Amino acid sequence: MRNVVLPLPVLYLQLLRTAVPELAFMILAISNLCKTFQSTAHHDPVEVLKNLNLEMEVGESLAILGQSGSGKSTLLTLLAGLDQPTSGSIVLNGQDMQHMSEEQLSKFRAQNIGIIFQQFHLMSHLTALENVSLPLDLFKDPQALKKAGEALDNVGLGKRKDHFPHQLSGGECQRVAIARAMVVRPAILLADEPTGNLDNTTGAYVSDMIFDLVREHKMTMLFVTHNEQLAKRCGREQRLQNGRFL
Ligand SMILES: Nc1ncnc2c1ncn2[C@@H]1O[C@H](COP(=O)(O)OP(=O)(O)OP(=O)(O)O)[C@@H](O)[C@H]1O
Ligand SMILES: [Mg+2]
Repeated sequence: MRNVVLPLPVLYLQLLRTAVPELAFMILAISNLCKTFQSTAHHDPVEVLKNLNLEMEVGESLAILGQSGSGKSTLLTLLAGLDQPTSGSIVLNGQDMQHMSEEQLSKFRAQNIGIIFQQFHLMSHLTALENVSLPLDLFKDPQALKKAGEALDNVGLGKRKDHFPHQLSGGECQRVAIARAMVVRPAILLADEPTGNLDNTTGAYVSDMIFDLVREHKMTMLFVTHNEQLAKRCGREQRLQNGRFL
């Protein structure tokens, strides 16, 4: 992989950390986070996340493990700013996500958060190149297509830039999604079972790619998985059970 350019804030933090090693630099602080899905006419409220507290330092990788239904995806959705918690706070990169307007939040998300979902979530009417340049287009980045092209080169899809998702395999779609998540050099990468929809060989290839990119770019990553082996590749593990951290 080429062109390793660390984002300035990360570079600055790393220099500061070298100079003052006793200081820890939080990138994420979750306090007393709760999420209850409200009742509808026929259902009781579903209390999914119960008073979660978590901190992550810059450059850390953390695996979130837990049984199906324990609340992993719900937690990631809140961290991604795609839904609001019932109570509690999420401070990401020094910003309290609960005190932003929709517009501020969508810009903040595009600038700070890279997300890789199990189901890829690519835009079917856009080419691979257009999908990857989307987060940069939000800021009218004049280099958007060039950067998106480089990001696709980095995941080995330089020759498939003009192809639409339906012309790509599942593994290739996930590599496009990885390129889209990484193209803004986000403060944090959120991955929700990113290999869950892939066969073992493709899954191993894609997970190697994610861990290589994260190491190379010294990124902070929160990685949701059922796979104990993959979890061990993260620096730290945290287990969710019935909406609480063990
Ligand atoms: N919109 C919703 N309304 C009501 N309940 C919901 C809603 N979304 C999720 N839930 C419930 O929240 C619980 C946690 O769901 P979540 O998707 O976070 O689990 P998970 O740990 O990601 O599971 P999996 O490993 O199967 O992906 C489940 O019981 C689910 O049914
Ligand atoms: Mg899930």
